[in-house]
Parts: sequence; C-alpha cells; structure tokens
Amino acid sequence: MRECSDSCCCPQSTPSSTAPPEASQIYDGCGSPIEPAGIKEGEIVVDLGSGGGFDVFRASKLVGQSGRVIGIDATPEMIWSARETAKKYSFSNVEFRLGEIEHIPLDSGSADVVVSNCVINLAPDKLVVFREAHRILKPGGRLVVSDVIAERNLKIDRNDPKAWAECVAGALPESEYLGLIKEAGFTGIQTAEKTSGQDGKTTQSCCSSGISAVVLTATKPRNPNV
Ligand SMILES: C[S@@+](CC[C@H](N)C(=O)[O-])C[C@H]1O[C@@H](n2cnc3c(N)ncnc32)[C@H](O)[C@@H]1O
Repeated sequence: MRECSDSCCCPQSTPSSTAPPEASQIYDGCGSPIEPAGIKEGEIVVDLGSGGGFDVFRASKLVGQSGRVIGIDATPEMIWSARETAKKYSFSNVEFRLGEIEHIPLDSGSADVVVSNCVINLAPDKLVVFREAHRILKPGGRLVVSDVIAERNLKIDRNDPKAWAECVAGALPESEYLGLIKEAGFTGIQTAEKTSGQDGKTTQSCCSSGISAVVLTATKPRNPNV
C-alpha cells in the first residue's frame, strides 16, 4: 500500500494487469477505466494523462495489432519512461505524445475511445478537457473516466498545495463533474463504479474522507443534434 502523503490518488492496490512491471510500479490511478470501456480489436484508444503507461499497455492487448493506443502526458519524464517501457517490451501498437489534455495533439474525430485515470481532477478547467475529448472522438465514440470527486459539502482549501498533490483540491462534486461532461456534448452519462473514501470494503481508498473514486462512462452522439 502506498503512502497517501506523496501519492495523488493514493491507490491501495494496482488493478491486476498484464502491464509491464515498470508501468505498474508507477501506476498512480484511482480505479480502472479499461474494463468499462469495452475496448475492441482494431480500435483507436487515447489515454489522457497516461503517466507511466499502465492503462495504455493494458489497452494495447485489447486493440491488438490492428488497433492503436496513444498516451498523452504533459510531463516529459513520464513520456520518456513510458516510451522506454514500450521499447523494452516491443509494444508496436502504442505511442506516447507529450502534450496537454487541454490541447490534445490529435486530429478531430480520430479516436474510438478516450480513457483517463485520475488526471482530470488536476485540470483547473475541466470543461476544456471534456470538450477536447469530445472533439477527438469519432461520432459514437466512448469516454471512460476514472477520477476522484468530492462530497457536496466537503470544505476544501483549493489553494493548499498538499490538497492539489492528493487530488483533493480539484475534486468537484459528482453532479458538477457530470454536468461538465454533458455541457461538453456527451450523452448517456453514467456512473459505472463509485468507491467512497476509506470505506475499508474495496480495493480503492482515497486519502481523505469526503473524497470518492468514480468511473464514469459517456458517449459522443452519432447525430450532433441529439
Ligand atoms: C495521478 S497521475 C495518473 C497517471 C496515470 N493515468 C495512471 O493511472 O497511473 C496524473 C498524470 O497526469 C499528468 N497530467 C496532469 N495534468 C496534465 C495535463 N494538463 N495535461 C497532460 N497531462 C497531465 C501528469 O503528468 C501525470 O502523469
């Protein structure tokens, strides 16, 4: 189990996976967006804030050689680490691009699935991120986000650097978070999983009480007028 003090989302355990050990060791997510995404062979999957590539490597097995998984991260060290791991284990259907999830370095309508694991809470303007996810998805494409959310009445000092480091400062109430996904143009928004902080019953536990981990799914409508 990791120390809460230096970990953002403080996973109690890394989801079981076929990802290389190098990626598993620096996993810093708060759940798993991969299983609810229903990823199929041949699909193009984009991971926003891919870190050491944990979810990218897991998705790469699902899309197979006819698909592709692209990790986006703003930290050069994360990109270098993930590229090294990909090279070491000869993953030929993955790539890692340095970039911000507020300005995703991908063409519009180019992805079947966008996933993200414990990253969007860190973005000061989450609507911009959801709009970018919507832009890069093909019509009918899926968004699956694992992230932390705050209980509605939780008092948060949003200027406290420790609170940012623990993914608490940017955590929004669930209804607000879902509202932003809707405002970005997504439909069929659902909470696939929810784990309350420190409930002791699950594999995930967030650092602070009043903070929960959720996995949300949504779709970009095929018809933009829907
Ligand atoms: C808590 S870690 C999660 C990493 C990974 N998703 C995982 O599950 O292990 C957050 C990651 O998001 C990246 N990140 C934070 N803000 C970002 C932004 N605005 N654009 C791109 N990457 C960002 C960080 O560099 C870091 O690698």
